[in-house]
Amino acid sequence: MMSLIELKNVSKTFKGYTIFDDVSVAFEEGKCYGIMGPNGSGKSVLFKMMCQFVKPDVGEVSIDSRFLDSKARFPKDFGIIIDRPGYIPNKTGFENLKELASIKNDISDDKIEEVMRQVNLDPNLKQKMKNYSLGMKQKISIAQAIMEDQSVLILDEPFNGLDISGVETVRAILLGLKKRGKTIILTSHNKEDLDILCDAVFLIDQYKIIPRI
Ligand SMILES: Nc1ncnc2c1ncn2[C@@H]1O[C@H](COP(=O)(O)OP(=O)(O)OP(=O)(O)O)[C@@H](O)[C@H]1O
Ligand SMILES: [Mg+2]
Repeated sequence: MMSLIELKNVSKTFKGYTIFDDVSVAFEEGKCYGIMGPNGSGKSVLFKMMCQFVKPDVGEVSIDSRFLDSKARFPKDFGIIIDRPGYIPNKTGFENLKELASIKNDISDDKIEEVMRQVNLDPNLKQKMKNYSLGMKQKISIAQAIMEDQSVLILDEPFNGLDISGVETVRAILLGLKKRGKTIILTSHNKEDLDILCDAVFLIDQYKIIPRI
């Protein structure tokens, strides 16, 4: 069976700086993978390549055709958090999610409210997002990534900025999604997050992606 996402002999440099050198790694459907690596090692670049937002210089990143749009150019059924996503500062969290929902499918207000409650955000909060704390913004990102019940979750540092209860909430959400057969690939600087959630953990080391033993 074909892997859901596969990197074959991928090399990537930025202005002569090597990020990846001849990396091959495969991610299977229905599993949860963790990626660890120091700041600047290439985790976010890896995720951008996995979502086809950034092309490798050499090699290939393939996505199972069932998860590509009709032109096979962009992934579909992916819930994505990479870096800090854009949001409209003068709108509330609910309004921002509604805006994002309207770009793709129409998700009901009820569904948006449900997902906001899941991440412990009050859907009726009148605060504009520019006044949200880091953790509150992070919760909106997570709500955005899961609100369409996507099959594949590409989550770059989903725990970043969350307080203890936020971490527990998001761990529980992700464990629940994993049980329901979702494919989850996430980064974290916290080993415990990855140990609790992941079937396999990879390290970015010396421009390679190697299994953590
Ligand atoms: N578009 C770009 N142009 C030039 N350099 C880039 C670009 N994107 C990333 N880089 C460089 O690639 C390297 C890896 O960046 P990346 O953001 O993937 O690191 P990271 O592992 O996600 O780090 P962090 O833990 O801080 O999030 C960095 O040195 C970064 O400066
Ligand atoms: Mg990063």
